[in-house]
Amino acid sequence: MGYRTVLALGMSAFVALASSSAFAAGDAAKGKKVFNKCKACHTLQDGKHKVGPSLLGVVGRKAGTAKGYKKYKGMKGADWTWDEAAINEYLTDPKKFVKKKNGQRTSMVFKLKKADQRADVIAYLKSMNK
Ligand code: HEC
Repeated sequence: MGYRTVLALGMSAFVALASSSAFAAGDAAKGKKVFNKCKACHTLQDGKHKVGPSLLGVVGRKAGTAKGYKKYKGMKGADWTWDEAAINEYLTDPKKFVKKKNGQRTSMVFKLKKADQRADVIAYLKSMNK
């Protein structure tokens, strides 16, 4: 195998890897603005809940476990953890995601349709993790 062939193979493996990730990493600064859409129902303050639970530290947290939040519906008894891919799928269509996960109805009726906004807001949430 010539040097060029090896190089070309290497490149295509890299491209395949890069495009197989669930989504591109977002921009936390832009995500801060996107989070304005979530603020009607969520805070990023510890233990401060609105209609929805506080999202402080939600990336990597088990679903349905925000301390002191008592209004969980779809996330009651949830057995999954909010990694970035799960949040991405949830924000795309909360009802569909939760139904698939545990057959329950989520009380979050908001969808974030734009993929780049989802990636950005997830990056922002992650940056707020302690
Ligand atoms: C209209 C109100 C509303 C808006 C707007 C909203 N949410 Fe929610 N969200 C909720 C409610 C209510 C729940 C609890 C759902 C349940 O238990 O079924 C929730 C749950 C969540 C959870 C799971 C939390 C946990 O502790 O398991 C995440 C993550 C989340 N929302 C992210 C977002 C993001 C990010 C946005 C903005 C892009 C957003 N939400 C906008 C009401 C809202």
